[in-house]
Amino acid sequence: MALKWWQTAVFYQIYPRSFADGNGDGVGDFRGMTEKLPYLRDLGVDALWLSPHFPSPNWDCGYDISDYCGVAPEYGRLSDFEVFLNEAHHHGLKVILDLVLNHTSDEHAWFFESKSSRNNPKADWYVWQDVPPNNWQSCFDGEAWTYVPERGQYYYHYFMRQQPDLNWHNPQVVDAMWKAARFWLDMGVDGYRLDAVGTIFEDPHLTPHDVPMSLAELRNASDLAQTPEQKEVVQKYWHDMFQHQLGQPGVHDLMKQLRAILDEYPGDRMLVGEDDDPDYMGNGQDELQLVFNFPLMRTELDPLSYQGKTFTPGWIRENQAQRLAALGKISSEAWPCNTLGNHDCSRVYTRFGDGIHDAERARLGLATMLTLKGTPFLYNGEEIGMTDSLIGDATLLRDTMATWYYERLVNDLHVPAPQAAERAGKMSRDKNRTPMQWTGGPNAGFSPAAVPTWLPVDPNHADGVNVKDQLGDPLSLFSFYKRMLHLRRSTPALIDGNYQVVHQEASDYLAFVRQNEHQTVLVVLSFSKERIRLDFSDVPEVLAAGKASIQPVAPGLHARTIFSSAGRSKTVENLSEIHLGAFEIYIATLEG
Ligand code: GLC
Repeated sequence: MALKWWQTAVFYQIYPRSFADGNGDGVGDFRGMTEKLPYLRDLGVDALWLSPHFPSPNWDCGYDISDYCGVAPEYGRLSDFEVFLNEAHHHGLKVILDLVLNHTSDEHAWFFESKSSRNNPKADWYVWQDVPPNNWQSCFDGEAWTYVPERGQYYYHYFMRQQPDLNWHNPQVVDAMWKAARFWLDMGVDGYRLDAVGTIFEDPHLTPHDVPMSLAELRNASDLAQTPEQKEVVQKYWHDMFQHQLGQPGVHDLMKQLRAILDEYPGDRMLVGEDDDPDYMGNGQDELQLVFNFPLMRTELDPLSYQGKTFTPGWIRENQAQRLAALGKISSEAWPCNTLGNHDCSRVYTRFGDGIHDAERARLGLATMLTLKGTPFLYNGEEIGMTDSLIGDATLLRDTMATWYYERLVNDLHVPAPQAAERAGKMSRDKNRTPMQWTGGPNAGFSPAAVPTWLPVDPNHADGVNVKDQLGDPLSLFSFYKRMLHLRRSTPALIDGNYQVVHQEASDYLAFVRQNEHQTVLVVLSFSKERIRLDFSDVPEVLAAGKASIQPVAPGLHARTIFSSAGRSKTVENLSEIHLGAFEIYIATLEG
């Protein structure tokens, strides 16, 4: 079966505020993004996901939208968006937008009207109660119910108080949002990433949670958790605190409606949900095309999403086995989607680094994304090894969930200010949203010298963490990204081949075969600090035994190297003896 474009594509997430500043005001914009399209094409990605570009008071960096059919003035006008979209298409790049369904900004006209009285035409567009009916928390800023004097009532918000939840039980809300979705589809966008789909409905019984802590106390306990036991307790508390506010029934109907709308358009428009639950894919044809493999991304993340997993061959194999089995239950065609980073989490280079082999482990991260089965999503800046950029001064934080936490730590929990600032800086998402580093010059070439950028530029741009320096260096991370992206594009089995693990038990390397009707590709990713000697003479046997095997594989195969991250003198290797350098990424076609 021919694959759709979103199955073969590599996606690249652009965080518009930080990607490219075309008008030199310290904030990214559409002019900048348009200018960088040749860069993206040259890098070798196929599709772009834009974090929200809509007008917003920016309490949550654009995820609080005040007009679903507009463009934030700091990013340009609607005509600038259209130029960007057409140019992207002209460069062969698809574009998907971020659609935030759960909530609007409290400065959206819908909310202004809704909060103005109890009997206005939009009175029921949000979730109102006379008194707070329970102890629910907002996952960003404490109490989930906020009082509005005009109505003498409280509204519900899963995120910040500036992000009131829409009432999706009201058919007028559904119509209004689908109209907004059509607005961009009519213009030609190729699909949507659906924000926070799990938060759309709440438990109708409004059941209280039974966690004996406030949100600030739980965050604090998470910061302080050291042992696996302590981490498990806080993890359970996170689950219990929000269990009645997440993953409630009703969403599937909505997803079906939205999918039906997309299917009216030509060109296989697509939906990817910000969730890891394959249930959102419906029967494989009638809801979302993709959901993210977040369990792999959350590897080695902070205790908030503690899974007790590190980025090792064993965990990647286990994760793939779980994901592929879960998808298989949906349909034989349900497609995986892997990612290691986005605007909400610590950067790959920092998170998977050990302080010594950061560059090697960043390469392994990318190689894993581009060789496992499924659609990869990469995050801007990863290609040059941008790191977490910690902000130690709480007054400079822009991520309001972190400023809120800072204030709670200092004012309620009496944590000394310097310590509170450090912890807030670490949990803040600002650290992974700093401006893209284009050059080693002033402001990293993001904005003109001396223009204050919306978040500070990381000083490491002057030490080679920038596009310009890496572009001309064949050994740079950027060149590695380019080589690997081009390899993937020219190796069909890496895109459409099935996936079969070899050497299930190996602890210092990950080996698997991707095979389609024409190609058998062996991928070996060494996680070892030492050289290792491997024997793959059992591969024909493993493939013959595997249910997924497509072609008969003759004994006496050899490996023809198609990619190696280390210098390799031979292009053909004997399967019984392949030597891998430390952290080598080795990819070969198996031939008779
Ligand atoms: C999603 C976004 C995140 C945002 C939240 C609320 O999780 O990825 O950045 O803060 O939704 O919209």
